[in-house]
Amino acid sequence: MTASIELGSGDPTRAALDVLAVCVEEGPLDKNPWLASLERALGGGLLEHAKVVEFTGKPDQLLDLSTLGRAKARRIVLVGAGQKAQLDAARLRATVAMAVRAVGGPGVTRAGIALPPDVDFRQVGEAAGLGAYRFVKYFTGDRRPKSELKKLVLFPAGKVGPAAKKELALGSDIAEAVALARDAVNEPPNVLNPEALAVIARRIAKDGKLGVKVLDKRGIRAAGMLLHYAVGQGSENEPRFIHLSHVPRGAKKRLVFVGKGLTFDSGGLCIKPAPGMGDMKTDMGGAAAVLGLMAAVARLKPKVEVHGIIGAAENMPDGAAYRPADVFKSLSGKTVEIINTDAEGRLVLADALTYAARLDPDLIVDAATLTGAALVALGKTCSAFYATNDELAKSLEGAARQAGESFWRMPLLDELADQLKSDIADFKHTGDRYGGSILAALFLREFVGGYPWIHCDVAGPVWSDRAKGIYPKGATGHPVLTFLRLVEELSG
Ligand code: BES
Ligand code: MN
Ligand code: ZN
Repeated sequence: MTASIELGSGDPTRAALDVLAVCVEEGPLDKNPWLASLERALGGGLLEHAKVVEFTGKPDQLLDLSTLGRAKARRIVLVGAGQKAQLDAARLRATVAMAVRAVGGPGVTRAGIALPPDVDFRQVGEAAGLGAYRFVKYFTGDRRPKSELKKLVLFPAGKVGPAAKKELALGSDIAEAVALARDAVNEPPNVLNPEALAVIARRIAKDGKLGVKVLDKRGIRAAGMLLHYAVGQGSENEPRFIHLSHVPRGAKKRLVFVGKGLTFDSGGLCIKPAPGMGDMKTDMGGAAAVLGLMAAVARLKPKVEVHGIIGAAENMPDGAAYRPADVFKSLSGKTVEIINTDAEGRLVLADALTYAARLDPDLIVDAATLTGAALVALGKTCSAFYATNDELAKSLEGAARQAGESFWRMPLLDELADQLKSDIADFKHTGDRYGGSILAALFLREFVGGYPWIHCDVAGPVWSDRAKGIYPKGATGHPVLTFLRLVEELSG
């Protein structure tokens, strides 16, 4: 289903394409060389039409028209790129991804995109791949897409350097790593269970020559991850613990990424209400991001150690399910009193974070669809993050900006920590509902062993209600791109 992405040359109006999209910077349209050549090819009328419908090149503007047999392509699409001065990496990628989404349609197998001047071809490759993504494997008959985009040709404005082709290919490989994360989140939970996550991890390891270790239910118990074990004990689909590793010779830093992998979260005995329960197939979004990141790391081979750790389980209510009032010993040795079986993510993560800390890392980063409270605080498109120091927070903010993903730093408010005091064990794992995302972060902090740590509550942005910028409708692949840029920054 993946379209081949290639670099075009020459005049795109003469190329054999079904559709041609042009990324148009805001400004006088008659000065735009792409539009001038289109105007000629069509025998006039395009600029006048653009004026009539008030297409000016503003961000997100689209003008889609049939060429009525006057040009090689049957349709042309103008896509607003916004003002030149504001065309940073994120804006460029949003524009190209939107162009790719816009060219798709009946009978379209070959499409071209005419790019703005002076672009970074890795960004273009990423955007093209991200925009071309679709999840259609469960459609049959009439619901199957009638035609599939097979070839996407990207036309540069002006001369390009010799590295452009390689950069474009790198970008499109990174988009494939993001697609892997999106696929995992889009998959229904009857298919994507904890073992299915392990299967994906083993494939990534094999294809990318990474180390891989998987613990099954017995292995998890034997290792002493009894919080993780407890969360998984009420499901027929048994839990898995997954560890992928990229360990290059001479690496000076060790980065460990940890993902929450709840392949379905019914809430357990503290069962969730029916409306919205189906959304909890996305509760492995953090794990999917770690898998996507490791696939990208296998491709980029950065000169730092990168570990990807996943706590996978299904949270279900049955006769063997864990209960409120149960007490379990964590991998760290600290004991936890269960209050609400729907606060399962922090339990699985607690053991995974302890495992991560035992690797003696320079940094631990986790991603988890952890709390509804993060959604209440920041909305559905922005992740809440917590960092143990300001420098780390700046690094994450920089990576997110480059990636074009939305993050907002939240405080680790010690004054809330009293709520975690238990009468019977070392900790309770929940408190009252106010500050719910912060309290979950404070609980996790007890298990990172004092190592530098960034926690990302990604409950909202792993899924999108509509296509926008680099995100399609459905699974977004957030925060693979941010994590990848963080790895690149810390390795270079
Ligand atoms: N997976 C959910 C959090 C979630 C909610 C993610 C909505 C995405 C959308 C998590 O396991 C959960 O149920 N959290 C509870 C915690 C509470 C019981 C302390 C919550 O947020 O309500
Ligand atoms: Mn839950
Ligand atoms: Zn959950």
